[in-house]
Amino acid sequence: MLSLHDIETVFARRGHEQYAGEPVTQLEHALQTAALAEAAGADDERVTACLLHDLGHLLQDLGSGEDSPTLRGVDDVHQYAALPFLRGLFSERVLGGIQLHVDAKRYLCATVPGYEAALSDDSQRSLKLQGGVFDADQAAAFIKRPGAADAVKLRQWDDLAKVEGGATPSLSHFLVRAQRCCILPPTGLRPGPPKGERPPWDGPAPGGA
Ligand SMILES: [Fe+2]
Ligand SMILES: [Fe+2]
Repeated sequence: MLSLHDIETVFARRGHEQYAGEPVTQLEHALQTAALAEAAGADDERVTACLLHDLGHLLQDLGSGEDSPTLRGVDDVHQYAALPFLRGLFSERVLGGIQLHVDAKRYLCATVPGYEAALSDDSQRSLKLQGGVFDADQAAAFIKRPGAADAVKLRQWDDLAKVEGGATPSLSHFLVRAQRCCILPPTGLRPGPPKGERPPWDGPAPGGA
């Protein structure tokens, strides 16, 4: 299981990688998705699911950006890849948002006219590898699943989170929100910052010792 510090380290090491077919990095995409959720008033669990929805891409080494695995016909099943590393740290509500965001794409393709056509080339390739557009029965069954409506909303923020140079709060800001919804006792986690102080993973204040 990852700690919040581990998650911060993963983003520090690999967050600079390009998001396939889009003018943002993996970290920028994660922050923009979380920022859209936050701006819409989403709670800590939903914001955290948005922040971490594509973490699975960064926990394996199947290629990214110009080397997208979809070009080799590979589905990296990133919606599942992060779950074993996050289970025990976050609730099923957080995990469910991550797990279901790909099926939410399949659902939106089936139910929103023009949605599939507007997907990027990489997303259209991955859609086929992920099982394709839901048929009517699959769409009806999906939206009845617990957490499906939240996953659809996550996916819609996900779609918008590809703005070159888009301004967002920092990763530290969203890690504070993630920490607030951790289900794990604090052992092994960095403590949250006292009110008004910088979080510990931000390091010393600029100009400080
Ligand atoms: Fe994704
Ligand atoms: Fe995404």
